[in-house]
Amino acid sequence: MIRTRPKPGTIAVYALAGCVGWLVLGQVFAWENPSPIGERRQSPFAKAEHIWAELSPPPGLPAVPFPKDSPPTHEKIELGKQLFFDTKLSIDETVSCSSCHNPEHAFADTQVASRGAGGQQGARNTPTLINAAFQPYQFWDGRVSSLEEQVLGPLQNKGEMGFSIPMIVERLNRLPQYQSAFRRAFGSPVTRENLAQALASFERTILSGNSAYDRYGAGNPAALSRQAMEGMKLFDGKAHCRHCHQGYNFSDGLFHNVGVGWNGNSFADEGRGAVTGISKDRGAFKTPTLRQVAQTAPYMHDGSLPTLEAVVDFYDQGGKRNPHLDALIQPLRLTPQEKEALVAFLRSLSGEISFYR
Ligand code: HEC
Ligand code: HEC
Repeated sequence: MIRTRPKPGTIAVYALAGCVGWLVLGQVFAWENPSPIGERRQSPFAKAEHIWAELSPPPGLPAVPFPKDSPPTHEKIELGKQLFFDTKLSIDETVSCSSCHNPEHAFADTQVASRGAGGQQGARNTPTLINAAFQPYQFWDGRVSSLEEQVLGPLQNKGEMGFSIPMIVERLNRLPQYQSAFRRAFGSPVTRENLAQALASFERTILSGNSAYDRYGAGNPAALSRQAMEGMKLFDGKAHCRHCHQGYNFSDGLFHNVGVGWNGNSFADEGRGAVTGISKDRGAFKTPTLRQVAQTAPYMHDGSLPTLEAVVDFYDQGGKRNPHLDALIQPLRLTPQEKEALVAFLRSLSGEISFYR
């Protein structure tokens, strides 16, 4: 596993590569798909049968939405996986996507903040990529949202992308193994559009479900411990966590200010506010999924809370008071037992991580 500490120069290119998968998805790229999943069981890849299982989501999750103009194929996903783990996508060949989105850490990392990732914003904690396929917005501030915006994204970031993406494309086009893999998957050389489609296709196979919570929901009352069950009641009731962490992915997909990063006068990071320019969005960040959350410490957009206990204490105190604090964030007055129960429930959200291998 690659655990190199990246240099800032490398990361700029890298973060852009990370973004491009989401930025250009909306672009129509009408290649005939060599082997659409669902229509064929034979594949040039030895593990074709395996992917079959990987693409049906684990219990607790709905079917994965793939964009109409980029249906999943074995070749695309295989290629995306290769790219995801390849350090050749960084300038000095020291970092891959998996350096920060590490499968061993639920596709996150253990650092407070991966400096440089996310471009000029920097200093943000690496989010897990599990179930990212279901998110309406990507990045902590959701600066990439609808497919339309994904098309516009690269234009808005012209300065950065104009520099880095063509370099990656050029490099990959010079490597024989990628020449043939792109040809198999897209019938063309490497372009930024098909680079993005390949990476995104692989990312959509990174899923987590079938947790104790899911098994409980599927009718097995013994799946959750008594304590976790008490925690679930608090999550839904007294602590009203479910209000924002809702649905099968434990996220409303929206942005809230819970006070993280408020220093008494200002926010270290304006988050959603910097994207929309709206005052009430200042210091607001995307509600993250809570699946596998026990594995993705440290927490919050700035990695400022080291443990789940610290997160629960933070909410118990009513977050950090600031002029834009979400009305739902108020002191909870939880007892020590209640706090422990909430943490036990959060731990019950770890299940099976699956991804195409
Ligand atoms: C140096 C560490 C680093 C590397 C390398 C990296 N990322 Fe990221 N990634 C981050 C950080 C930090 C964020 C959050 C940035 C933000 O919100 O502004 C992020 C966010 C994302 C997101 C949005 C997830 C969400 O829930 O909002 C996706 C998708 C993503 N990265 C994919 C990739 C891909 C694909 C690659 C490789 C091409 C990659 N990343 C390489 C650190 C990294
Ligand atoms: C008003 C909406 C809202 C409520 C209510 C809420 N959360 Fe959150 N939660 C968020 C947002 C937004 C973030 C990210 C905040 C940030 O990083 O600035 C977050 C982050 C988290 C994280 C960190 C996850 C990570 O990957 O870093 C955990 C754990 C968490 N919440 C658990 C809870 C629990 C437990 C409760 C109930 C006590 C709760 N939340 C109530 C919106 C909410």
